Amino acid sequence: MTLTALARASQRADFPRAPVAPFAVLRPLRGTKELVALRLEIDADIPARERLLNAAFGAERFAKTSEVLRAGRLPARGLALSAMHNGELVGTVRLWHIDAGGKPALLLGPLAVADSHRSLGVGGVLMREAIARASALGHKAIILVGDAPYYERFGFSTALTTQLDMPGPVERARFLALELSPGALDGAHGMIAATGAKAPRSRAKLASTRRRAA
Ligand SMILES: CC(C)(COP(=O)(O)OP(=O)(O)OC[C@H]1O[C@@H](n2cnc3c(N)ncnc32)[C@H](O)[C@@H]1OP(=O)(O)O)[C@@H](O)C(=O)NCCC(=O)NCCS
Repeated sequence: MTLTALARASQRADFPRAPVAPFAVLRPLRGTKELVALRLEIDADIPARERLLNAAFGAERFAKTSEVLRAGRLPARGLALSAMHNGELVGTVRLWHIDAGGKPALLLGPLAVADSHRSLGVGGVLMREAIARASALGHKAIILVGDAPYYERFGFSTALTTQLDMPGPVERARFLALELSPGALDGAHGMIAATGAKAPRSRAKLASTRRRAA
């Protein structure tokens, strides 16, 4: 295989890659003696993750502008996390490769915690773990659309997105960013675009069936 062909093949989602080290971290559930385990999402989590997201956001989640940047893509390697308690999925967060007006970055979302487990710190531990892992994996900035009063505690702000646009309607007050490397978004200007690996056809088809069914 020529170097050019190899470079092209390496862009494909099914190209063999060095595995991301599996991990599991335990964190206390606030105000209880229980622990929540964070780990990489596995395929067996997907039905429970989809039920959790439907319960948290309803069917309109598929109409969100951020979804345009996620549909048909795979999340960034090592950055799809599940929070497990007593063998059940109680929280989820994923991050996605994007080009943020000329700067490589990640889009975070959706983040959701099961109604039964809210205000126990699960959202916070998922966010902190996602940010730490993104930084350790060499990513430089994270963008999201969400409630500023929640995300400001992790360092997100609207100040870094003033020159950026989403490929659809977005409330500027909810359009937030965090630099993992200072200055990473300096000069970022223009439309955000998806850059992640395309999901294999079978997975993309399953996701679109779920969208239609929701
Ligand atoms: C937002 C969400 C992920 C937080 O998860 P969580 O595990 O309850 O979060 P934590 O326990 O770490 O933090 C809870 C705190 O955040 C606050 N909080 C929760 N959602 C908030 C919001 N949208 N805006 C501001 N504060 C919020 C809670 O009031 C609570 O405050 P307290 O610590 O003073 O009691 C969860 O409520 C959820 O899944 N919501 C529905 C989906 C959603 O809205 N996701 C993205 C937010 S845009």
